[in-house]
Amino acid sequence: MRPLGSIFNAQDYPDLLVGIDPPDDAAVWRIDETRSIVVTTDFFTPVVDEPYDYGAIAAANSLSDIYAMGADPILALNIAAFPPQLPTDFLSQIIRGAAEKAKEAGVVIAGGHTIQDKEPKFGLVVIGMIETHKILTKSGVQPDDLLILTKPLGMGVTTTANKAQKAKKEDIEEAKFWMRKLNKIPSKIATQLNLKAATDITGFSLLGHAYEMADSSKVRIILNSQDIPFINGARYYGEKWFFAGGAADNRLYYEKFIEFSEEIDEVTRMLLFDPQTSGGLLLACPPEKISEFEDTAKSQNMPYWEIGHAIHGTGIIVK
Ligand code: CO
Ligand code: CO
Repeated sequence: MRPLGSIFNAQDYPDLLVGIDPPDDAAVWRIDETRSIVVTTDFFTPVVDEPYDYGAIAAANSLSDIYAMGADPILALNIAAFPPQLPTDFLSQIIRGAAEKAKEAGVVIAGGHTIQDKEPKFGLVVIGMIETHKILTKSGVQPDDLLILTKPLGMGVTTTANKAQKAKKEDIEEAKFWMRKLNKIPSKIATQLNLKAATDITGFSLLGHAYEMADSSKVRIILNSQDIPFINGARYYGEKWFFAGGAADNRLYYEKFIEFSEEIDEVTRMLLFDPQTSGGLLLACPPEKISEFEDTAKSQNMPYWEIGHAIHGTGIIVK
């Protein structure tokens, strides 16, 4: 659904460099010759049982859209909806989890707004700054670029299994480790190497977000299923079909753009449509920069997986 495009004409706002059409991870507004501000917001219902972790994950997730644009987040506000009967200790732990994660990112949370609601919801509005020529967009992928993913998949099935009290403790701990992790380092490396295209993997799944990149960049993306990383329990919970409704929705919407090799089984296909919370960045790196990328990532202990590449054409192929 893109109703904004029927009311706002992007051409009427020459300083709006990114937003409306095509939509991206965050909106970018030029403020002078060299700099732009980047603005985004995100919030969601609890994904884990522990309030501190929920706050930290919600913050990492909200900050991620700023990192996906290659920008430095600087300032944030809380957006919260809490049931009146929620113990105040829970509430303060959520806020503290977010505040400490923001601080780790170098961001100050300077206030916010809370309302009452039956189901808790929490997230941030985040403002970042960027040198305009460094912006990373979904539409910057070129044929031959290599595609790099910076966190494994499987957060959706694992947290859904956890909600049904069917997840092993070590599996949910592994999911939380990745969901709490900031996308700061891969974003920094991407801008340092002057890469042009990135997005973050969240609710639309790897395939949904990869398709958005392919579509707005007018390329075809080829993904090698053997190279796509998953957290430990993902396949097991997938086989037990702990897929949230979002996975089926993603499949329904994006499947027509995706060509799977025959030998790719149902569980793997669903895992690739599984919505992620606070997933990694998907970066496009030209082949001539890949060894510099690898060296830089290794020197900073940054995990990454090369999962495919782009060619001329449209849509996605999963081999
Ligand atoms: Co995003
Ligand atoms: Co978002």
